[in-house]
Amino acid sequence: MDWRVPLADLDYGQEEETSVVNVLRSKWLTMGAVTQEFEAEFSRMVGAKHAVAVSNATEALHLACLSLGVGPGDEVIAPSLSFVATSNAVLYTGAEVRFADIIGPDELTIDPADVARQVTPRTKAIIVMHYGGYPCRMKEILAVAERYSVPVIEDAAHAPGASIDGKAMGTWGLVGCFSFFSNKNLSTGEGGMLVTDSDDIAEKFRLFRSHGMTSLTYDRHKGHAYSYDVVDLGYNYRIDEIRSALGLEQLRKLPANNARRKAWTERYWKILDSSKVGLPFRNKAGSPSFHIFPMLLPSGIDRKAFIDSLKAEGIQTSIHYPPIHSFSYYKSRYGVISLPKTDEISTRQVTLPLYPGMGEEKVDLVANAVNRSIEALQSVKPG
Ligand SMILES: Cc1ncc(COP(=O)(O)O)c(C=O)c1O
Repeated sequence: MDWRVPLADLDYGQEEETSVVNVLRSKWLTMGAVTQEFEAEFSRMVGAKHAVAVSNATEALHLACLSLGVGPGDEVIAPSLSFVATSNAVLYTGAEVRFADIIGPDELTIDPADVARQVTPRTKAIIVMHYGGYPCRMKEILAVAERYSVPVIEDAAHAPGASIDGKAMGTWGLVGCFSFFSNKNLSTGEGGMLVTDSDDIAEKFRLFRSHGMTSLTYDRHKGHAYSYDVVDLGYNYRIDEIRSALGLEQLRKLPANNARRKAWTERYWKILDSSKVGLPFRNKAGSPSFHIFPMLLPSGIDRKAFIDSLKAEGIQTSIHYPPIHSFSYYKSRYGVISLPKTDEISTRQVTLPLYPGMGEEKVDLVANAVNRSIEALQSVKPG
């Protein structure tokens, strides 16, 4: 379908094309010097000692769990209001997930008080997710983590460039995981990054990323090594030079593009009828990355009818997220779990279009269509 306003749109141009052509001409496509440069620039951007690139954030989350020793018999606390990769990564290790609720309709991130309630003697780690690029309450989360001596992993898939008090999201916990999937603020199609200040953990990331081998093909190509040992059970989670080249260009554009996302978000907040529409994070502190624009329908409105009415006007929307504990696989594994606040908002949440090149005109078009649609649906008498 040709959308008048798509949900997301890439900011790709000549820079990305040139960078890819340069990699092709270099004839070195697997992980090498361009990836090293991407890692160095990314670690500088977030202010972390180490950045280790992988081919997606699901792998980053998996390696984060493995590197912290998460395994069978352990539990990891995570939000249910997230993409399923957040908790799947825990299950890959043989550990189990304990879901924590969100703070509420104004703040859709994990509730530090509920995190504390979910702690058991088996808790091995806490994963938080900066929903929509809006920072979690990290100071309170870290206080809980410290009380129980449990490390924190940040799922920062939505949050490149976001910060609290000038400290980047992804660097508050022991490990931060970023996604470069094609709808993300920094996009390489598929891609991910792990960041940490710990030398030991970074060393594990590098081993696990490439079969547990002590040297890379690239090192041997460069003459830095002639052989290798395999010292752990690793994976092939490497990124490649084409994606790293795209990542470098996208990283340069990130501050300006996040600023444009911010401008469109603030305009939405101004035009949407806040007497009817719930506007999460509107009064939130910190510097978000404005990854998506979430809104909450008034209760009683038929969400499908609302989405269809926008679709009829050529406006694409989405839902972030069907809660993980509501999926068949998770229900078959854990039975029925009650997360009252997650359950309540997840039936009312809708995500509106947001991307750097959107422009005022399109924001106005979407916001006015939303106001009109809600008014029309509210006047429909049930039955
Ligand atoms: C919150 C969150 N976590 C993890 C992921 C997984 O990222 P990837 O697609 O790079 O594996 C995504 C991607 O959509 C996400 O939104």
